[in-house]
This record gives sequence, C-alpha cells and structure tokens, in this order.
Amino acid sequence: MAVIICGTGSYIPPCSMDNNDIAKLVETSDEWIRERTGVVRRHVIREETTVSMAARAGRRALEQAGIEAGEVDLILVSTISSNVILPCAACEVQRELGAVNATCFDLNAACTGFLLGYNTAAAYLESGVYNTALVIGSESLSNLTNWSDRTTCILFGDGAGAAVMQKGGGRHYLPVTHSNGAKGGALTLKSRHDQSVLTGERDPEELLGPEYFMQMDGQAVFKFAVRSVPQAVEEVLEANQVKKEEISCYILHQANRRIVEAVAKRLEEPLEKFPMNLQEYGNTSSASIPILLDELVQQGKVKRGAKIVLAGFGAGLSWGASILDWA
Ligand code: ACO
Repeated sequence: MAVIICGTGSYIPPCSMDNNDIAKLVETSDEWIRERTGVVRRHVIREETTVSMAARAGRRALEQAGIEAGEVDLILVSTISSNVILPCAACEVQRELGAVNATCFDLNAACTGFLLGYNTAAAYLESGVYNTALVIGSESLSNLTNWSDRTTCILFGDGAGAAVMQKGGGRHYLPVTHSNGAKGGALTLKSRHDQSVLTGERDPEELLGPEYFMQMDGQAVFKFAVRSVPQAVEEVLEANQVKKEEISCYILHQANRRIVEAVAKRLEEPLEKFPMNLQEYGNTSSASIPILLDELVQQGKVKRGAKIVLAGFGAGLSWGASILDWA
C-alpha cells in the first residue's frame, strides 16, 4: 500500500521585504545577501498568523484535491512559530476549515518538519488508521528573527504550504530520517516560557535577549547540510532500489542557494533537477517544501508518474529524505 498527494496549496503573505529593505536595518547589502544565500526577497506577515496562513493553504489544498473538509481524518501542522500553544495550531485549522471529523496535532521538527509530517501521515494512512490527511507547514519566522543580527535576519521568511494525502495503489517507499541532538547547539531558540512562574519576578527586558530569537552557527549548519542531505538522498535511493536517473526532481528545503548547488554537485545530478524559489521567499522552515511543491504543481511542472525526492534538514539537528510517485 502506498500514499498519494492528491492536492496542494500554499499561502504567501503579500507584504515583502527585499534585500535593500534589510540593508536599512543592519549593515549588509543586496549584493552580499544574493551572493551568499541566493535570497532576493522574503514575505512577512502583517495581519496574518501562523494559524490563518495554515488554514488558507489547507483550504486551497482541499479545493485542489476536490475533497470536502468533513472527509479529512487527520490534520497535522508542522511549525516552530505558532501564535498559539493551546489549542494546537492543527485544532485551530480544524475549526477554521470545519474539518469536524479530523484528529489534529502539531509537530515541531524545524525545517525537517514537513518531511516528518508527510512520513507520519503516510504511516497512519498505510496502516489503515486514517484515510485522508491534511499535512501543513506554516511559519511566521519574522516573529522569531533578531532583526539586529545580520547573520540570521537576511535568511528567513513567512508562509505556509499544504498537501492532502490519501492511500494510493502505487508503490510503498521507505523514508530515511535522522536526528542528532548532540549537535543541537548549532541552531537554537529559547522559549519565553523557560522559567517557572513560581520562582519569582522576571525582568521583561530579559525576554528581549538574543537567546529568545533564532541563533545560528551558520557555517556549522552549512557544513552539516551539504554533507548530510546528499547522504540521506543516497540512502533513500539505496533503501528503495531507485536509481538517480529515475528521479524527475529533488525538492529540497529552501535554506540557501549554495546549499542546493552543493547537494546537486555531490549527487552528480544536474542543477535543473533541483527547483528553487528561495530567491522570492527566503527560508520558510517547515513551509518551504510544500510551498515549492505547490508552485511546481500550479505551473504544471510536476507530471503524472514523476518520481520526486523530498529532502529536509535543520535544527535538532534533524534531516531526511522520502520518495513519492506523483499520481
Ligand atoms: N552582510 C554582510 N556581511 C556579513 C553578513 C551580512 N548579512 N553576515 C555575516 N557577514 C560577515 C561576517 O561578519 C564575516 O565577516 P569577517 O570575515 O570580517 O568576520 C563575513 O561576512 C563572512 O561570514 P561567514 O559567516 O563566514 O559567511 P558565510 O559565507 O558562511 O555565509 C551564511 C553566512 C549565509 C549564514 C552561511 O553560513 C549559511 O548560509 N549557512 C547556512 C544557514 C542556513 O541555511 N541555515 C538554515 C538551515 S536550517 C533551517 O532552515 C532552520
């Protein structure tokens, strides 16, 4: 038994900031950012929230799939930047969509989150627990960004992407996933609820410290990504006895153009098989893979029968790859 994606959707906030806008906040330049990252522009929330973007992306995916909200059995939202802790973002999405029959929960695996959400939904569908799943990656990273830190604020953006999944008649593929908590210090963000409220007064200024925004050892993350992503792709191909020539495209987490280029080179695959949209959206963490997938679908670039590799990597550290056949 296999799974298929039967609809995709995305939501990008209309408000955008180009590199020159960032250069007004920190000492940087359009040229530096383009050259080191490939990012030209990123979109940021104004009225939107992580939940509202997730709901819009989810609604579009259901419309594209031609599936009613009431048919959805599972809603899974991957996010590190939800505007709500309770109820979970997935329950909020359920309420907005009227998906009254769905079981809902959130998942936090940073930029690997959509991939792990896809794998989790696939396992439920394949085992017969659920028939229809809505998996969403939604992020408001602009709320978690230290806008005075030029090493990180140039990278990130906001948005949401979604996929509707069902059981299908095609092939079952084993995913490959890894985590390495020992190296987690490379990319961190402290919760503002990190102290007991019983232990006394807290200076509100403390919550504006850099540890309460994303902090990253950029070079460590870069080295990790260019080594581990090609390895995961090789592993997933090997595990499923699929040859690189059979793969139509590799949809990688959109972190940095140089990372994508390095992965293509290590895999000895043409860069044309690695679509990118990070120039327009920056790194949207768990939303980047479904946003890119949806764009490719809307542009008619994903053909029926195409074999696609999804590959995610990020904080944790965590990384992995999965293969799917486009139905
Ligand atoms: N503008 C201008 N100069 C800058 C900027 C900036 N925005 N940021 C850093 N610099 C300077 C540094 O201070 C340094 O100056 P120095 O040589 O005088 O000390 C110089 O540029 C080079 O800095 P590096 O850190 O070596 O720059 P690098 O080429 O490594 O690029 C970058 C930095 C873009 C962050 C890179 O390391 C990278 O992309 N890493 C991966 C980041 C990533 O993708 N993270 C997300 C993955 S996981 C997830 O998605 C959550």
